[in-house]
Amino acid sequence: MAHPDHALWKEGWRANHIPFHLTHVHPLLTRFWAQLDLDTTQRVFVPLCGKSLDVMWLHDRGHQVVGVELSPVAVKALFKAAHLSPQRESHGDLARWTQQQLTIFCGDFFAMTEADLLGVQAVYDRAALTALPENLREYYVAHLHAILPADCQILLLTVEDLDDEDDADDSMCQSSEIAALYSVYFSVELLHAEYHAARTVAPGEEIETRCIHKAYRLRRAPRN
Ligand SMILES: C[S@@+](CC[C@H](N)C(=O)[O-])C[C@H]1O[C@@H](n2cnc3c(N)ncnc32)[C@H](O)[C@@H]1O
Repeated sequence: MAHPDHALWKEGWRANHIPFHLTHVHPLLTRFWAQLDLDTTQRVFVPLCGKSLDVMWLHDRGHQVVGVELSPVAVKALFKAAHLSPQRESHGDLARWTQQQLTIFCGDFFAMTEADLLGVQAVYDRAALTALPENLREYYVAHLHAILPADCQILLLTVEDLDDEDDADDSMCQSSEIAALYSVYFSVELLHAEYHAARTVAPGEEIETRCIHKAYRLRRAPRN
């Protein structure tokens, strides 16, 4: 049975309420992708990809890109923005949209199998893990591990919100949630952490939001 969040995501896309969507390629992707030291022809997986411009950045570098996204509105927009006209076919519980080096599975990430990710050497995850409810995150990492080929690497970008009492300096290290979720299956290396603060003025109050953007490299341990 579909998770109740699925309907909310799809409705958000239909209403064009997509505050997470960036109108530029993520700067930490362009800065840290090279650290994975991949051949540019290698196959890359982008889970929960939305219509992110990061997908086409990877594709334009020469990578074969495989994505998965729940919303057909997002998948259509991704191909349209890239001026590509994909072929569509049904693929079990998913729909597969393909043109040349780009394949997007439209449907639930949890319906993907090992066969869908054959040859994938790396994963780019921005706001995929954190888009899922906390009670599904462990299952997300276990499923990702189950369907990825051996020796796969992940570039994982996260944003950690700070509460008023949190000290930014104390939070520039590896997150305990990331370590707990991934270290069973992957080695976890924090590549970078940067502090961001923003002030918003609302009638009668000024709100400060603080967060830390982090980039991790994860390496999948070979299967036993
Ligand atoms: C926070 S957005 C991030 C999108 C993209 N990674 C980006 O950087 O813009 C999360 C996306 O995951 C999709 N999504 C949520 N649950 C999903 C699932 N179970 N399977 C596939 N896609 C899902 C949503 O429709 C949404 O587009």
